[in-house]
Amino acid sequence: MKQAFFITGTDTNVGKTYVACKLIRDYVAQGFKVIGMKPVAAGCELVDGEWTNDDVLKLQAASNVKAPRALTNPYFFKEPIAPHIAAEKAGIKIEIEVIKQAFDELTKLADILIVEGAGGFLVPLNEAETIADLAAVLNIPIILVVGMKLGCINHTLLTVEAIKARNLMLDGWIANQAEPGMSSYDENVATIAQKIHLNCMANCPYSL
Ligand SMILES: Nc1ncnc2c1ncn2[C@@H]1O[C@H](COP(=O)(O)OP(=O)(O)OP(=O)(O)O)[C@@H](O)[C@H]1O
Ligand SMILES: [Mg+2]
Repeated sequence: MKQAFFITGTDTNVGKTYVACKLIRDYVAQGFKVIGMKPVAAGCELVDGEWTNDDVLKLQAASNVKAPRALTNPYFFKEPIAPHIAAEKAGIKIEIEVIKQAFDELTKLADILIVEGAGGFLVPLNEAETIADLAAVLNIPIILVVGMKLGCINHTLLTVEAIKARNLMLDGWIANQAEPGMSSYDENVATIAQKIHLNCMANCPYSL
């Protein structure tokens, strides 16, 4: 493996999968062997007799390296609810060590590994640990997807504070317009860049 990134977001539904797939496709186009990982997914449908999460399918479709689902998505739950609650209901404990082992296996298969978190940065995984703890154990640069909508400045500042408080590496942030027609878009991007002292890596306009 040459490089891995951890994709987190200002919230659920802000475009982490959208951006992760874009990144994967960009690296594939550059000739790299690329694989997407979604360690914890809540919300599955029965596809060809197998309970499958939509993010996992999208990441898989964008990737050019095939790997067992047990590695790309070690934890999946049927109900689209908070992962630690879904796990509790299923009588399972989400173990960061299990995810780390799957991650380590995937690093042997690809040049670039793109790992998508679940929800926002402090989403609990079990009684004691959160997505932030997973990012710390994986110890790879973080890319923050900012869902450009009213409230995004506050969400971004809170998330960046949480990343910095753990001494983790924020590689950059991407402004993503998962909803059309945000007013004062440019001013919001400029405010975020100025307040977190980091220019926006890329703008993803709303596009179907
Ligand atoms: N730039 C965009 N243009 C158009 N639609 C977008 C864009 N970004 C995201 N969307 C749409 O918004 C919805 C939410 O995006 P996405 O699934 O990527 O969010 P997420 O942060 O990965 O959510 P989750 O927390 O469930 O993993 C999806 O239907 C996606 O196709
Ligand atoms: Mg997603």
